[in-house]
Amino acid sequence: MQAITTDRVVIVGAGMGALYAALKLAPRPVLMISPETLGEGASSAWAQGGIAAAMGPTDSPESHSSDTLRAGAGTVDPQVATQVTREARDHILDLTDMGTPFDRDDNGGYVLSREAAHSFARVVRVKGDQAGAEIMKALIAQALQTPSIQVLEGVLASGLEVSNGAVTGVWIETSCEDRSQPILLRGAAYLMAGGGSGGLYKLTTNPARIRGQVIGMAARAGAVIADAEFVQFHPTAIDMGEDPAPLATEALRGEGATLINADGERFMTAIHPDAELAPRDIVARAIYAQTQAGKRPMLDTRAVLGAKVLTQYPAVAEACARAGIDPVLNPIPVAAAAHYHMGGIATDQNGRASLKNLWVCGEASSTGLHGANRLASNGLLEALVYARICAVGIDAVLGSPTGIAPEIAPDFLPGGVSPDANAVDRLRRCMTNNVGVVRDAEGLKLALATIARLEDENADCPGFVNMTATATLIAAAALLREESRGAHYRSDFPAPKGDTGKRSMLTLSEALAL
Ligand code: SIN
Repeated sequence: MQAITTDRVVIVGAGMGALYAALKLAPRPVLMISPETLGEGASSAWAQGGIAAAMGPTDSPESHSSDTLRAGAGTVDPQVATQVTREARDHILDLTDMGTPFDRDDNGGYVLSREAAHSFARVVRVKGDQAGAEIMKALIAQALQTPSIQVLEGVLASGLEVSNGAVTGVWIETSCEDRSQPILLRGAAYLMAGGGSGGLYKLTTNPARIRGQVIGMAARAGAVIADAEFVQFHPTAIDMGEDPAPLATEALRGEGATLINADGERFMTAIHPDAELAPRDIVARAIYAQTQAGKRPMLDTRAVLGAKVLTQYPAVAEACARAGIDPVLNPIPVAAAAHYHMGGIATDQNGRASLKNLWVCGEASSTGLHGANRLASNGLLEALVYARICAVGIDAVLGSPTGIAPEIAPDFLPGGVSPDANAVDRLRRCMTNNVGVVRDAEGLKLALATIARLEDENADCPGFVNMTATATLIAAAALLREESRGAHYRSDFPAPKGDTGKRSMLTLSEALAL
């Protein structure tokens, strides 16, 4: 074993939360571990809609908070919702100062999109559907000019070292075949900001690398995982066989696009008074039911947008072009796909995990903001708010930085080898088939047995067992929650047990004991 010790704060991940935290920690030296070239492979870069914030003249953080609570189906922490929605405006102004080219109207006001379950048009956007990519560009430009930030690209973290309940190091993955020289990186403090779990599912809108590894790493180290069963499925992933499936942003439905099936029936009007703008879990289940019934659900933008879809929603237009669909002339085939994990490493209101010296932000965390069903475009917002909270908390614990820590020589750090592709594929199919939009006890028990078998067969590959740890936690928490609530739907327990529900808190050893 080789140990590398640094005075830097070690940040696992390189998406929006990681970059924003690194900037907020400056001038404190940080080391970001990025599995790919900076800016690539992070879910946040793929976000289309934007960031929810009460920027409109008649909107308010209180209204935003109450929509967040309502969408979350009785499990949102109200204090967290109050704090996050109150800080939203400040972060939009900060990102604007950092160079994010938010869409503006003729008077210089922010253009606001409408998305499901919001009482107001409230989502700030960039170039129509390019919010994630453009915000990431602005943050990366800032990070590259910030001498305190060192980024190790192409490097994979594989585990956490824990001593007396505190994180003391991050294991760096070498290769599944040859781990004779594992490397342990010891830093001043640790921030996990490496994304969620969507890619554990065969049908997902998340980048290929986002497969629950960061949550799994913390779980294997003993951290408490909250709300693991709450996985959000996006109703309108473009269903043309691409893996991952490209997204057709909810803002399209906000503009008036409708959902129809192959018979031309607009099925959402019979299901919910808000039709296509019903809460995301309801629309996702309706799409899933249409798919299961062989009715081929589709998103129809023709009447409301016509040719404007090509210029106003360039990411959607590009995905349609790749699939040979002309959205000006034809509706877009869609499916419900794993999109966002509301669950994650449990944090307190200071972004601290149950293990000492460990902070978490972004989709890897479960702060209590999203409950059982995240309100659209609250994901990037939460990442920003908690990135700053974590930075402030780390500073408070570590005190003033003492000079510039020397950079780590990247030559010392080998890259990793991907886990067996066949095993990953089996795991993803198992999750989509048994732990997906509709669940029951039989399927969940089958999933737990399959995941355990796959883990046994690949026990020497840390990258894979991080995935199976998270998959185990999702399936176990889903089995334990004998009710339907928000995105968690049990066909054998189809109703919620009361208006409010308790958040689930589970360790990996508790999940494995089921
Ligand atoms: C979308 O643009 O539909 C996704 C927004 C989100 O998931 O918050």
